[in-house]
Amino acid sequence: MPLPKRVVLVGPMGAGKSTIGRMLAKELGYRFLDSDRIIEDRCGANIPWIFDVEGEDGFRQRETAMLEELSEEGNTVLATGGGAVMRDENHPLLKKDATVIYLKTSIDQQVERTRKDRNRPLLQNDDPEAVLRKLFSVRDPLYTGLADIVMYTDRKSPRLVVRQLVNRLNPRTPRHKRQIRKEGRNHV
Ligand code: S3P
Repeated sequence: MPLPKRVVLVGPMGAGKSTIGRMLAKELGYRFLDSDRIIEDRCGANIPWIFDVEGEDGFRQRETAMLEELSEEGNTVLATGGGAVMRDENHPLLKKDATVIYLKTSIDQQVERTRKDRNRPLLQNDDPEAVLRKLFSVRDPLYTGLADIVMYTDRKSPRLVVRQLVNRLNPRTPRHKRQIRKEGRNHV
C-alpha cells in the first residue's frame, strides 16, 4: 500500500503532535507543517495575542482558512491544534487525501506536558486540569470519529510512537504484520 498523500495528526493539547509530527515527517521524507505556528507566522503575533484581540472565534476562523490552504499540500505531515476538530466544516479539510492519526493521551499526561506552558490561552486559569477534562469529553469522540489510526502515546517515547506509526503506514513489512497481531488492529 502506498503512503498516503498527507498525514494529519489530531489530538489534545499535550499529545505531542508537534514533536511526533516533526520526527514522523523526517522518517517519511515528508514536509512537516504545524498549523498553529504557520498562523502565528502569518499573523505576526502569537496565539495568546490572537485570542486576546480577536477572541477564540477569530482564531477559529484563521484556523479554518489555514486548514483549507494546507489541505492542498501533498507529501506533508500536518500537526493541527487541539481544537481543529470543533468545527464541522474542518472535518473534510482534515480528511482530504489524508490518513488521520489521533494521538490519544490521558488527562494526566496532558496536564503534565502542558503544566508550564504559557502559550495556550485555554489553560491560563485556576484549574487547567478541569478544562482539559471537559475538552476531552467533548473532543475525544470527534478525534476518534475522524481517525484512521488511534495511537496511544502514554508511557511511550516520541521515538517509539514514530516507529509504531511508520509500521502502521507501511503495512507490508513483516515487522508490521507481527505488531498488528500482537497489539490489535485499531489500537497500537
Ligand atoms: C487549542 C490548542 C492549541 C491551539 C490553541 C487552541 C485547543 O494547539 O490551537 O491554543 O482548542 O485545544 P495545541 O493542541 O497544539 O496545543
